[in-house]
Amino acid sequence: MTGAVAGKRKVVLGITGASGAPYAKRIAEVLRERVAAGTLEVGVCLSNTAAEVWALECGGDIREDLGLPMWGARDFSAPFASGSAGWHAMAIVPCSMGTISRIAHGTSDTLLTRAADVMMKERRQLVVVPRETPLSTLHLENLLALSRYGAVVMPAMPSFYGRTKTLAQAIDTVVGRVLDHLAVEHDLLARWGDAKEKKA
Ligand SMILES: Cc1cc2nc3c(=O)[nH]c(=O)nc-3n(C[C@H](O)[C@H](O)[C@H](O)COP(=O)(O)O)c2cc1C
Repeated sequence: MTGAVAGKRKVVLGITGASGAPYAKRIAEVLRERVAAGTLEVGVCLSNTAAEVWALECGGDIREDLGLPMWGARDFSAPFASGSAGWHAMAIVPCSMGTISRIAHGTSDTLLTRAADVMMKERRQLVVVPRETPLSTLHLENLLALSRYGAVVMPAMPSFYGRTKTLAQAIDTVVGRVLDHLAVEHDLLARWGDAKEKKA
């Protein structure tokens, strides 16, 4: 990873209006724990549709529920809107196909798409968690473009080889892998080859 400022790890969480708000809710829970432990700084930015889908899928108000520092969609004065602030990584969870397209084409019209653009230009870690089915050729081409530009494309695809029994466990199979790629410590996953059973 290049150009990031030394010190506490700093991670951006972007949330869009794709289905999958429970993934965002879970990742925010883990990030809050790490912030409380003093090992992480987190900044959140939302797309204009994120609150609507959150209310439908999680209930409640996303701004009240997240409990993490948040910037507005047009707040380009946020620190992570500039590469010089040295933020280390960003995950967009869930990521709509509209936002995938805007990032793939460098639109940078909101804080969220600008922050993603910054991560790519600084050669830092950008993780996108797209959710759509089926995927059109255009979706696939935009995802391929992002992958070629260095982003990690990590679809919201739960795994079941860890004897997944509950919805919460299925969500953790996705969120745990996202946290791995953000280099944020967690204990959500039973690792392949690890004898340890995942807690219920
Ligand atoms: C309930 C609901 C679920 C949606 N699910 C998806 C989805 O899974 N994937 C997707 O790409 N768009 C989905 N959309 C459509 C996006 O919200 C819409 O394209 C929006 O313009 C995306 O804007 P954003 O990328 O700025 O959040 C959904 C919309 C609603 C209201």
